[in-house]
Amino acid sequence: MSTERDSIGIGLLGAGVVGGGVARILREKADIYARQIGCPLELKRVLVRDVAKQRDVEIAPSLLTTDPSAVLDDPSIQMVIEVMGGEEPAFAYLKRALTAGKFVVTGNKEVMAKHGGELLRLAREHNVDLLYEASVGGGIPIIAPLKRDLLANDILSVTAIINGTTNYILTAMSKGGGSFADALAKAQELGFAEPDPTNDIEGIDAAYKLCILATLSFHADIMPADVYREGITKLDARDFEYAREMGYALKLLAIARRRGDGDGVGDGIELRVHPALVPQDQLLANVDGVLNAVEIEGDLMSRVLFQGPGAGSLPTTSAVVGDALDAAVSISNNVYWPHSFRRESGVKPLPIDQCQSRYYLRIRVVDEPGVLARIAGKLADGNISIASVIQKELDGARGGGEGNAEIVIMTHEALEADIQRALGDIRALAGVAAVEQMIRVRP
Ligand SMILES: NC(=O)c1ccc[n+]([C@@H]2O[C@H](COP(=O)([O-])OP(=O)(O)OC[C@H]3O[C@@H](n4cnc5c(N)ncnc54)[C@H](OP(=O)(O)O)[C@@H]3O)[C@@H](O)[C@H]2O)c1
Repeated sequence: MSTERDSIGIGLLGAGVVGGGVARILREKADIYARQIGCPLELKRVLVRDVAKQRDVEIAPSLLTTDPSAVLDDPSIQMVIEVMGGEEPAFAYLKRALTAGKFVVTGNKEVMAKHGGELLRLAREHNVDLLYEASVGGGIPIIAPLKRDLLANDILSVTAIINGTTNYILTAMSKGGGSFADALAKAQELGFAEPDPTNDIEGIDAAYKLCILATLSFHADIMPADVYREGITKLDARDFEYAREMGYALKLLAIARRRGDGDGVGDGIELRVHPALVPQDQLLANVDGVLNAVEIEGDLMSRVLFQGPGAGSLPTTSAVVGDALDAAVSISNNVYWPHSFRRESGVKPLPIDQCQSRYYLRIRVVDEPGVLARIAGKLADGNISIASVIQKELDGARGGGEGNAEIVIMTHEALEADIQRALGDIRALAGVAAVEQMIRVRP
């Protein structure tokens, strides 16, 4: 039942890149939003670390505070928008806001990946909603489609490029042919990578986002520890050359894939973030720079791809304010209907050694008769069949060193446990200097 309201009070936690955009757009579009909702959205308080800091956006000094209670304990604030980032104190503040019966909007992937289940339960108990569209893919709508439009499907897989920093670095390495260190330095210079880039380049950020997507897709509580993770730091310019030669792009993919009893492994979900070869004729291979994309495969609608700006002030503001307007409709109509499914499907994460993939192997060898045959023999012992082989001589500049030739093998689909065992055997072979690279091919 609709009740007339003077306004809906909003408290903003954070006024940085995203919070600044949210404050600006709430002001610039105030009249339009008021007409759409039926009453104004009033920004009442803004929590920051430093009230004296110079900001790109104009926020009345009287709104700024460093006291979280000024937001969380104010009964005239019905909605809290959290864009501070980090696990704590954000998690504690969100719990307080929900317990106080406030609707919550957040863009915090770390909190949602680690504590989303608890927060959503808390929201249900207090008859409010917790919305988190901005936590994955910045401005790309992906949470709402998974929560609603795709519900009729059994989701078979999620394959995503969900970290703009690493996608920028990999695109630069692919187009410019330089090293990882050079591409990272350039990304930092342009502001696409943090001074401490660990969370991005080690795949931690992508793993958080994958947890959120997989939890929604498979109706199971997926935690960061369930996700196998490899970053992009070991990729070499040569891998990009070989990938191109074989018709692939190199991307950091976040993959969640349902596996059934029929394929010889237990029922479960593969959950992995790692560099992957993507056939050049696929849409994901052409998602370049800081763009993000999420491909969802369902049993009814086959594959759909959501692509767009995965970060940035205004694209992320689009997602945050969209959620805020959704919450405002619930508040102004005094109705709230929890539209998330329970997480009780029972499907379990599969360990990496039970994942299946095709593999790219780059092995440095001594250029002498019989080495390739010995490597092929070890792969055959492990039930791994070879799809193609490239052998190249190495000059000194290309890392000749101990070995003076390089063999690049593409396998057919194999079990990870088998490939790891075979690689152990190959390392011990006479004439093999080093197994320098192993990259999975996208399923
Ligand atoms: N940036 C993006 O493109 C993007 C995209 C998608 C999602 N997100 C998510 O959105 C959130 C915010 O990101 P951002 O880029 O806007 O971060 P940011 O620019 O670093 O801004 C963080 C804001 O939070 C405030 N803050 C941080 N810790 C605080 C604390 N303990 N107490 C009070 N205030 C605190 C800061 O205050 P001061 O201003 O006083 O320092 C600042 O205003 C993160 O969860 C991020 O993952 C960001």
